[in-house]
Amino acid sequence: MSKRISSKLIAIVAAALVLSGCGSEGGGGGSTADDGKITMGFSQVGAESGWRTANTKSIQEAAKAAGIELKFSDAQQKQENQIKAIRSFIQQRVDVIAFSPVVESGWDTVLREAKNANIPVILTDRAVDSQDTTLYKAFLGSDFVEEGRRAARWLVEEYKDVDETVNIVELQGTTGSAPANDRKAGFEEIIKDDPKFKIIASQTGDFTRAKGKEVMEAFLKSNPDIDVLYAHNDDMGLGAIEAIEGAGKVPGKDIKIITIDAVRDGMQALADGKINFIVECSPLLGPQLMDLAKKVVNGEEVPQRVVTEETTFTQEQAKEALPSRQY
Ligand code: AHR
Repeated sequence: MSKRISSKLIAIVAAALVLSGCGSEGGGGGSTADDGKITMGFSQVGAESGWRTANTKSIQEAAKAAGIELKFSDAQQKQENQIKAIRSFIQQRVDVIAFSPVVESGWDTVLREAKNANIPVILTDRAVDSQDTTLYKAFLGSDFVEEGRRAARWLVEEYKDVDETVNIVELQGTTGSAPANDRKAGFEEIIKDDPKFKIIASQTGDFTRAKGKEVMEAFLKSNPDIDVLYAHNDDMGLGAIEAIEGAGKVPGKDIKIITIDAVRDGMQALADGKINFIVECSPLLGPQLMDLAKKVVNGEEVPQRVVTEETTFTQEQAKEALPSRQY
């Protein structure tokens, strides 16, 4: 082989290696495409609630505004669909993967695959219970335990002058999900010291309006004496309101209702007196997520935990906040 041909061959092989990504560092911080544009693979839980719809919109709009190409996948509340989506993002060699894990457990294998492929992962909204925290770069989302505590603190204050037993029914979120586990734990932590508060029934409503209604109907049939409903999100609370009205009772009066999220429909029901108290959980995570993604891809240090700022709403506060509520 002549000298000229062999040096041409070396140049071709080197170019092919660069194009295929071999030999590039990635550095766990990903590597942007030649045009400098970041590509993010995002696996969303589904479309189970008003909160989720607002969250999806926030992520899609923020990606557009930040000039990040978004590959969006809806898992329809199934972990196996999320795992498939993440594997496909790895195959497509996206620069960064973000996802909101439907449940807490069972992520180590696929997260390790992403790490081995040098693609950084950001958790949004919900946590995973992996012991190895190097499997993801950051977790952006609410403090769900604190949300549960806030719900219970309102209850304790509301019933501070009552001596009789307070019968509570609980509509839990998706079984095994971080918000269901944590909101339950935070709520119980606050009421546990006062024996008058009794959770007489607790079941999942899978964060949906339809399931919230169905489970509340069953609660009402088997428990004639319900004082309080604690629903892990607005949608289940709104479904339960239909069940309560269907049973001839007055929501917000005969049965006091505490929910979490503060989406527009929930806030309207709060302003109308059908819900008594809402703990906010903000779905507007898009801008912060895009900011973190850019930093991570550029190899900058980011905090491993970013907690969303949130508040609570009484009925009066809901009336004030409603006109300017974004979601
Ligand atoms: O993970 C956040 C929770 O998921 C929201 O509270 C709920 O509405 C949603 O489905």
